[in-house]
Amino acid sequence: MPTSNPSGGRPSPAAISAVGLRKSYGDKTVLDGIDLSIPAGSVFALLGPNGAGKTTVVKILSTLIAADGGQVQVAGHDVAGSPDGVRAAIGVTGQFSAVDGLITGEENMLLMADLHHLSRREGRRVTAELLERFDLTEAAKKPAATYSGGMKRRLDIAMTLVGDPRIIFLDEPTTGLDPRSRHNMWQIVRELVSDGVTVFLTTQYLDEADELADRIAVLDGGRIAAEGSAEELKRLIPGGHVRLRFSDPSAYRGAALALGDIPFPHARPRPRGGAREEEALSLRIPSDGSQRELRSILDWLDAAGIEADEFTVHTPDLDDVFFALTGSDAPARSHQPDQSKESAR
Ligand SMILES: Nc1ncnc2c1ncn2[C@@H]1O[C@H](COP(=O)(O)OP(=O)(O)OP(=O)(O)O)[C@@H](O)[C@H]1O
Ligand SMILES: [Mg+2]
Repeated sequence: MPTSNPSGGRPSPAAISAVGLRKSYGDKTVLDGIDLSIPAGSVFALLGPNGAGKTTVVKILSTLIAADGGQVQVAGHDVAGSPDGVRAAIGVTGQFSAVDGLITGEENMLLMADLHHLSRREGRRVTAELLERFDLTEAAKKPAATYSGGMKRRLDIAMTLVGDPRIIFLDEPTTGLDPRSRHNMWQIVRELVSDGVTVFLTTQYLDEADELADRIAVLDGGRIAAEGSAEELKRLIPGGHVRLRFSDPSAYRGAALALGDIPFPHARPRPRGGAREEEALSLRIPSDGSQRELRSILDWLDAAGIEADEFTVHTPDLDDVFFALTGSDAPARSHQPDQSKESAR
């Protein structure tokens, strides 16, 4: 990933760093000691289930709320000691739209320009440029309330960019967007990064993190359950499997019973996904997907008289990482994969 260095040759410190970040609401601990170090010019994705604390992290890093403990630096400024320094360097697109529906898209942009103390002339120039870049020129004079969800989201991000921030926070930037709008948004993020901007994003879409992020952290139970590149995270867990699907419930039950005795190393039906898998009449057999192992599995299924209606091979993806590291399937707080989750129910 190319990294421009706006400080002109001097090595720049991490754009964002946090040590021992803590936050509780009442007696509910949301963040229980989070460490982050995000290099300038990179994309960092924070994943985690609903309520994990992603928005809380974004709000603390962007000075909207205070942490209870820990040290946080953004753009070289301490968020507690120098919040104005942080604010001058960042842009934030919240999870929920900041667009004012009663005024036009253009007026929303000009308002942001005012907030950034741009001159009238400069404000108009930046507004026109960003509206054009986000394909909103045509809709510029219409009330934002008439915009589609995707247009509002684009306007949200355009507003974030008015002050030319070097670090931007995008809290679920593509939730609710259609596939084309999502890809457009990804393109915008890539362009920002190629200009040297640091992007901190949260997302529910694992393919988005896979596509965009240099580094990904999975937040769960108040801690970072794992952190690394998409490839590193996928290697953490043995998520590859073969999936058998049945249309006949009794064939499914017979196969589930027989699979309890499958003789291959680590090949046992996965315990997770239980009810849903059962409803779908499908079974997973963990597998590395190698030709040799697939042949053994097929031979064994033949010998056991199991005939599935569908047989698919699945290599590990970030969904597997997410399931393995978050929620009730998660191993005890550890960065190491827990091999025991491969064992039979
Ligand atoms: N102002 C608040 N007062 C009390 N509890 C709060 C407050 N803000 C957030 N919380 C709680 O903190 C936890 C984390 O919330 P947060 O919004 O950060 O989660 P999230 O990971 O962004 O979730 P989602 O994926 O649904 O957006 C939740 O349990 C939430 O109920
Ligand atoms: Mg959130």
